[in-house]
Amino acid sequence: MNQSAHQPAPSTTFALRADLLDFTADPGFDASGDLKGVRFRPDHWLLVRDGVIVGAQVDDPGDDWERHDHRGQLLLPGFIDTHVHSPQLDIIGSYGAGLLDWLNTHTFPAEARYADPEVAHEGAARFLDALYAHGTTSAAVFPTVHPVSADAIFAAAEARGMRLVAGKVMMDRNAPAALMDTALSAERDSQALIERWHGRGRLAYAVTVRFAPTSSDAQLEMAGRLLAATPGAYLQTHVAENKKEIAWVESLFPSARSYLDVYERHGLLGPRSVLAHGIWLSDADRARLAHTGASIAHSPSSNLFLGSGLMDWRALEAAGGRVSLATDVGAGTSLSMLKTLADAYRVQALLGTRLSAWKALHGATRGAADTLGLASEVGTLDVGATADLVLWRWAVGPVAEHRQARASDLHEKVFAWIIQGDERNVVSTWVAGRLMYEARTEWMADRP
Ligand code: GUN
Ligand code: ZN
Repeated sequence: MNQSAHQPAPSTTFALRADLLDFTADPGFDASGDLKGVRFRPDHWLLVRDGVIVGAQVDDPGDDWERHDHRGQLLLPGFIDTHVHSPQLDIIGSYGAGLLDWLNTHTFPAEARYADPEVAHEGAARFLDALYAHGTTSAAVFPTVHPVSADAIFAAAEARGMRLVAGKVMMDRNAPAALMDTALSAERDSQALIERWHGRGRLAYAVTVRFAPTSSDAQLEMAGRLLAATPGAYLQTHVAENKKEIAWVESLFPSARSYLDVYERHGLLGPRSVLAHGIWLSDADRARLAHTGASIAHSPSSNLFLGSGLMDWRALEAAGGRVSLATDVGAGTSLSMLKTLADAYRVQALLGTRLSAWKALHGATRGAADTLGLASEVGTLDVGATADLVLWRWAVGPVAEHRQARASDLHEKVFAWIIQGDERNVVSTWVAGRLMYEARTEWMADRP
């Protein structure tokens, strides 16, 4: 295995032998022991024709198929990261600040560089290839306020055949001049991007309001109009992440019932709305999320890193709300959804809930696809789904190998894989049946 990154496979028709794991339904909380919704098919062949999953079976499909035998490894649908900032790879792991200081000190200066088309195109390619190397094949992405940064991420995703949701960030106040648009320019630029990219291949547009403090009422109202006028478009933003941020929103929008209400009153909440964080929500807010169908992109790595707080997943679902998982890089400290799942376990544990491996994994695969309305295309190994696949090692290194060998049931094995695993466990990544990443294994060669 010496191939370099994203060298295409000879064909998009092949059969893979591995342990297949995906979900047929939400396993729910408290489900570590039972296998509700869990579909584990050990040592099966997954059949892929022209980039689409066409079957799964125990029997060898025969010489008519290009066969790849990965027995003893784990095959999952590619992870879906429902909230991530592509330009923030440049500032991941920046020290010492809560949300608003972190934005001003580290994030905004970094994003200003993306006005340069060369920076934007290089950054987009680096970002998507990094997603594949971490086991993620779909994402909802914030580029920057600059239309060229949105063009760059859409063009890079199209070249890779990737399912991607993105949109030009809107911010017309309370930001550095280099990152500001206006209600008018944001409308014109977003409309042009929608015409260029929305619904083209596997791409979809998200009206992307950064967060309430950086948009005027006029811009929020325009965003609501644009969303209503664009069938199939998403809305992505941030909500209720940090206490200082919330106090600021209250002072900027004194007549709103809550931070969430700022979005609802501008027509921004619906089943295709994905709001990151949702840490500091009231019962009334949770009820409004449930009523409108808007989902929360739970970003535990980011929330721990910035010290933002703990998002109560169980309370939100008990109110009828929907949750997916997200890295929120660069406040999140890794593009690895495995690490993100492990952080979600820690955050939920602090709230008194023991997240099962199943519930966590579902939120990064089928559950995430459900919140985006894409479950027939991504997030599962169903027949008819697009072959966005990731092959994983169960263990990397002697400690994890030992731990895996000691596991006495499937949940124990998968949970230990989540907690100990990261991007080093990724073997190969396929997007629509094209091999886009294959791990270099030279680094393991000296291992005793
Ligand atoms: N709120 C507004 N912008 C951002 C951002 O870039 N990251 C996070 N974590 N929160 C935000
Ligand atoms: Zn974010």
